[in-house]
Amino acid sequence: MRLMVTGGAGYIGSHTVRMLKERGWDVVVYDDLSTGHSCAVPPDVPLVIGDVGDAPRVSAALREYDVQAVLHFAALSLVGESMENPRRYFERNVGGGLALLGAMLDNGVRYFVLSSTAAVYGEPEVVPIPEDHPLRPTNPYGDSKAFLETVLRRYEAAYGLRWMALRYFNAAGAHPDGDLGEDHRPETHLIPVVLQTALRQREAVVVFGNDYPTPDGTAVRDYVHVQDLAEAHVLALEGLLAGMPCTAYNLGIGRGYSVREVIAAAREVTGCEIPVRVGPRRPGDPPVLVAGAARIRRELGWYPRYERLEDIIATAWTWHRRHPRGFAGRAERPALAGRRAARPRRQRAGGGMWHA
Ligand SMILES: NC(=O)c1ccc[n+]([C@@H]2O[C@H](COP(=O)([O-])OP(=O)(O)OC[C@H]3O[C@@H](n4cnc5c(N)ncnc54)[C@H](O)[C@@H]3O)[C@@H](O)[C@H]2O)c1
Repeated sequence: MRLMVTGGAGYIGSHTVRMLKERGWDVVVYDDLSTGHSCAVPPDVPLVIGDVGDAPRVSAALREYDVQAVLHFAALSLVGESMENPRRYFERNVGGGLALLGAMLDNGVRYFVLSSTAAVYGEPEVVPIPEDHPLRPTNPYGDSKAFLETVLRRYEAAYGLRWMALRYFNAAGAHPDGDLGEDHRPETHLIPVVLQTALRQREAVVVFGNDYPTPDGTAVRDYVHVQDLAEAHVLALEGLLAGMPCTAYNLGIGRGYSVREVIAAAREVTGCEIPVRVGPRRPGDPPVLVAGAARIRRELGWYPRYERLEDIIATAWTWHRRHPRGFAGRAERPALAGRRAARPRRQRAGGGMWHA
């Protein structure tokens, strides 16, 4: 059975692709490389370069590779940028998601796993946040994911789509091999920013607000290892294929760490001094976001292997120390555009895609 992983050249997608391959799944990656890295895709995995909003191209790829299930990671995910440019987020995340789902329906592809987010909850009324907490996103990024979840429910009822939505809290860490990790530009996530500061690539970590109603005044988040996220995708896919109900699950370890605790743990792991500067709060940043994480454990048997913050940071530190420039300087996969690549295994009439 072949899977399409959209956004498989990105941070979480590339770790999931590698795990799927290790578990024997046949995978094709569909990515426009807007924030991803072609060299993060294993050389034996076909990479189709395209926008998920380009329905004819997605359709052709689904047919050409005989895809039966889609794991959809491809999206823009900067909260601040989404406030400044909501149009871009709605066009790419909602428009792109609708085009992809439409192409799936047109081609009889029934299984779908969505990368959703804790941002669908907005300012939580209760913490840890259960899955049945009302969805009240406070930014267009969260809106875009919440809307796609609604679409999934409607398409299930009307067209028999089989889906799961995984609402990640804060993805963190890197592959334990140390050769795959996080490389966002700009980098806005706390752990890579802290480790780049340890490597002296930044002068100081800016702590956005130290007057929150939390024990040390800084914001508290639930950090979940990228390998544990990858594992959850495998379980979600297996669950769907086994006939488990379509639903949304939180993905977090169910315990929060403050910004100051993350910095202290990073000092411990790296042995480096990590200078800190306190800045103002960021609008729309809730004081505490912690997942109610029991449901996915109970229903899919998912258990995070990385529950200690130090262990999560240690894997990220190995990646950053070994690759201080991230993927920069690594050989890109050849001929990213403008070349019709070698034929994939099954070529159909009119189905020629751009490959790398
Ligand atoms: N990183 C987190 O902490 C986090 C938390 C919650 C949810 N998520 C969600 O997880 C998913 C993956 O996040 P990530 O951190 O790996 O991001 P990423 O930016 O590293 O990866 C996204 C990938 O999708 C590709 N892409 C983006 N728009 C595309 C489009 N229109 N067509 C084709 N390809 C496109 C990019 O080139 C990139 O390879 C996203 O959907 C994000 O919203 C991430």
